[in-house]
Amino acid sequence: MAHEAKNYDHLKGGALKGLSDSQLDQHFTLYKGYITKLNEIEEKLASIDNTKPNYSFNEYSELKRRECVAFNGSFLHEMYFENLGADATVSAGLQKALDAAGGQAKVLADLKACAMGGPGWALLTRNRRDGKLHTYFVAEHHIGLPMDQDLLIVLDSWEHAFMVDYGIKRPDYLAAFMDNIKWSEVSKRFGA
Ligand SMILES: [Fe+2]
Repeated sequence: MAHEAKNYDHLKGGALKGLSDSQLDQHFTLYKGYITKLNEIEEKLASIDNTKPNYSFNEYSELKRRECVAFNGSFLHEMYFENLGADATVSAGLQKALDAAGGQAKVLADLKACAMGGPGWALLTRNRRDGKLHTYFVAEHHIGLPMDQDLLIVLDSWEHAFMVDYGIKRPDYLAAFMDNIKWSEVSKRFGA
């Protein structure tokens, strides 16, 4: 079944601090493009000849190489938009994990530092191997995403996420992002 792009218009109209409607609209358009490409790739893979895969070039191999780009590009964006909303409600369980990691300010400072390695994504996760909070940097959409993680905060650090409002000032965008985190959503992910 084809994937359908979600609507995040509720984030517009001043719901977020420091992210304009123009910035958000362009980001929504880009996200929808990933959904379209994911559908296209999955549809082609459903019927393609997989008997001659090849490192240099083969249509099946090329689709397989790009499948994760479109998949992660789609759903990292959904998690990004869904953890925006400027809500300070942190569950007791998440607070305990944040405290164990040195406190919310320290964790966010590390997430911000992580995002400075962009373009790509900075993630706050609960690592299922050690049960602790970790930050990771994912290049593009698909390079460096570690296994066995519960994604808690997903931060888009590609230029398209902030150029309209901030030009090349990535740190200013990251500061705005931190002010817009929907902690109730992060808590929900932590508890899930
Ligand atoms: Fe993005």
